Amino acid sequence: MISLAIDETIARAVEVLRENDQGTYTIPTKGLYPFQWNWDSCLTALGLAHYDEARAWTEIDTLFAHQWPDGMVPHIVFHVWSDGYFPGPEVWRTNRPTATSGITQPAVAGFAVRRLFDRAKDKTLAVERARALLPKIDAWHRWFYENRDPNGEGLVAIIHPWESGRDNSIDWDDAFERVPTEGVEPYTRRDILHADPAHRPTKAQYDRYIWLLQHFRGLGWDNARLHDASPFQVVDPGFNAILIRSAADLADLAETLGEKDIANANRARAEKGVAAMERLWSDAHGQYICFDRVAGKLVDSASVGGFLPVFAAIPESRAAAIAATIERIAGKAHYIVPSHDPGDARFDAKRYWRGPVWLVVNYMIADGLAAAGHSQMAQRITQSSLDLIAESGFAEYYDPLSGEPLGGSRFTWTAAMVIEFLKGRG
Ligand code: GLC
Repeated sequence: MISLAIDETIARAVEVLRENDQGTYTIPTKGLYPFQWNWDSCLTALGLAHYDEARAWTEIDTLFAHQWPDGMVPHIVFHVWSDGYFPGPEVWRTNRPTATSGITQPAVAGFAVRRLFDRAKDKTLAVERARALLPKIDAWHRWFYENRDPNGEGLVAIIHPWESGRDNSIDWDDAFERVPTEGVEPYTRRDILHADPAHRPTKAQYDRYIWLLQHFRGLGWDNARLHDASPFQVVDPGFNAILIRSAADLADLAETLGEKDIANANRARAEKGVAAMERLWSDAHGQYICFDRVAGKLVDSASVGGFLPVFAAIPESRAAAIAATIERIAGKAHYIVPSHDPGDARFDAKRYWRGPVWLVVNYMIADGLAAAGHSQMAQRITQSSLDLIAESGFAEYYDPLSGEPLGGSRFTWTAAMVIEFLKGRG
């Protein structure tokens, strides 16, 4: 890309961020997602920092201001009233001072905060804000291992597909069969008012999402009970990799700031997690796959969640195998990285997390591949991401075969990732 085009693209991305900026937090997009989402905010902060560092720190501070007393950081904070989204606060009923959902999302805050800190021009501000966030992020990490890894295996389980951030992935299909639908209260979906139903989850899936929510609500959102009581407990390699990377990054940051105990605890979590991740490796797929904790078996599903472990310090041989698998998959798609293997009969190029490309996932995979020495593949992923926005704008996700923009438009974290791809390398 010529430099004028780069400046223009960045200016357009900044426009999207400004449009969705609510002052102290950013919404993912107008209409479809009118509140603050957990991992959206953390990744968005990286984009904000390129033009306003103080605002970037505030994005993460606002999220953590709504951390639960037990350490969990909820996946949505309902700062304002809006009837545009289902399920809203009246369904979750979590009894928090500001309404929040009752489940969590990928723990990318540790990574984001370290990256903000390392790049900060205003070091005084960075030290002050990072120091305040350190114990909060550490508490969230502790919460994960205490509540979602009851047998101390080193890997945590998600108890609802929405926690994964890859909401509708094929990875959850088998385990989802076990989730009942009886007793689901009548509801009206709002997502299909804002996006094409053919790109969104089916009614059968939605019923199960809501069944789980009602089940957890019936247990008073008591995290000490939810994991064991959930018929859905899946160990997702992508989710764990993000947590492991954040633990390692938090350890480094804590070291720099002289917080020895936080550093040691997070270093230990990261090391144990990387070793345990080996159990999720599949030679047949050349990538990691999920483990269904209730059924006690690996899930035969080759999704992008199994590439994300390159974002953590996995063995070199594993990173090399993943680079080769992405190369193979690239031969079946025009744009990479599809969220599912296009060679699988269940692949769907347009439906939410069952095939489409997401730029946030591309960003984390490219970051990990570059760090592991696979800069060519990292560069290909970056280029594919930039091609997509050049051709189709700042969409929520994209068809990997046609490049068509899908889901919501003028999407915040897509814009943030574009700024990162174009400016973040320096
Ligand atoms: C969808 C995505 C999730 C994201 C949210 C807001 O639910 O699956 O990962 O956080 O939208 O963008």
